[in-house]
Amino acid sequence: MSLRAIKYHTGHLEVLDQLQIPYVETYNQVRSAEDAWHAIKEMRVRGAPAIAIVAALSLAVELHDLMQRGKLSSAAEEVEVYIEEKLNYLVSSRPTAVNLSDAASKLRNLVRARIQLIGTTGEEVARDIIQAAEQMLLDDVEDNRSIGHFGAKWIKENTPLAQAGKKGAVLTHCNTGSLATAGYGTALGVIRSLYENDDLEHAYCTETRPYNQGSRLTAFELVHDKIPATLITDSMAAALLARKSANVSAIVVGADRVAANGDTANKIGTYALAVLAKYHGVKFLVAAPRTTIDLNTKSGEEIIIEERPKSEVTKIRGPREGGDGTGALCMETINVAANGIDVWNPAFDVTPASLIDGIITEVGVAEKDENGAFHLEPLFERRLVLGGFGLFDGCEECFDLLFEAGEVVLKG
Ligand code: MRU
Repeated sequence: MSLRAIKYHTGHLEVLDQLQIPYVETYNQVRSAEDAWHAIKEMRVRGAPAIAIVAALSLAVELHDLMQRGKLSSAAEEVEVYIEEKLNYLVSSRPTAVNLSDAASKLRNLVRARIQLIGTTGEEVARDIIQAAEQMLLDDVEDNRSIGHFGAKWIKENTPLAQAGKKGAVLTHCNTGSLATAGYGTALGVIRSLYENDDLEHAYCTETRPYNQGSRLTAFELVHDKIPATLITDSMAAALLARKSANVSAIVVGADRVAANGDTANKIGTYALAVLAKYHGVKFLVAAPRTTIDLNTKSGEEIIIEERPKSEVTKIRGPREGGDGTGALCMETINVAANGIDVWNPAFDVTPASLIDGIITEVGVAEKDENGAFHLEPLFERRLVLGGFGLFDGCEECFDLLFEAGEVVLKG
């Protein structure tokens, strides 16, 4: 099976149906924003970066189709209204991951800027959107590789085991790999990078109840890449950290929204792991692209947490062991709770910044200052010094020389 959640070429988009993974590899064609809305809402596509990219590409595909059939209005203003409506609709699919609304506002701003130009046609507006959506797909993989690099480097430099010249184990939660992004992954990208550098003793992944993204998706990716790994249920994490021989030196998770103060919304169960990490003196890291950082949300208190259906807790779906006798998979739904019990099913929780040691982004790792506060704004400055994200405050010419020498990375 392949590790691609998104298959795209201009005018054609397919998404891997993650409800069937790891048992069956089925791709669903996405022809419109409406198809994407359903794929996201029904969890066939998931993971904060992946849902944002699929939403953007679905609009690109829809606009491309309208152009091909000669149905796109030539009036730029009409195309703008059409795009705005589609973006608002797409954003309504899931509320917690900010990447989706971030992608939508970037596309919205692009259209608004374009129609300021006198004589702009509807087709030019559509082409801008298609190009921007395609760029998001390309950028995500590149950003994830940088996240992997910075995260692995940080772990090597800041965890006692690595400082003693030994390899450590890393625990992760939910799925943050190729299937949750355009490729490589965020937290799982850090694990991949450690493994590629021969700096990883072992990876542990949680099952991630109730939706089992860990046992179904992360475990699948770890097995696929032949990374030495072990699956645990969520409730085993404390025992794992207490077990000295497990050598867990860091917990690395992804994020759905990082507030300006560093409070982080991620898959339910993340907060519990951060509390455990603090108790056991294990480093706790969040790995996420800057598209997941929401400077407009001041703290975790402002983050809307999606609540999902009871049935996700009371039932489990999977193939019957032994199949149906003919070799074909026989998918079944099993009840795992007492009939009539009330259920609370928040899809995410918020980990306070005080429990987070570092936020790994594609431009470096943000750490807290001596007062325990994160400062995430500099991550968005254009002049970032590679390897840290210290801002370059020298003269313009010096900056240009450093940039030419590859010493700085221009982002933002
Ligand atoms: O509900 P899901 O499956 O979309 O949740 C996914 C997560 O919470 C991930 O950990 C998060 O989006 C980070 S993805 C790189």
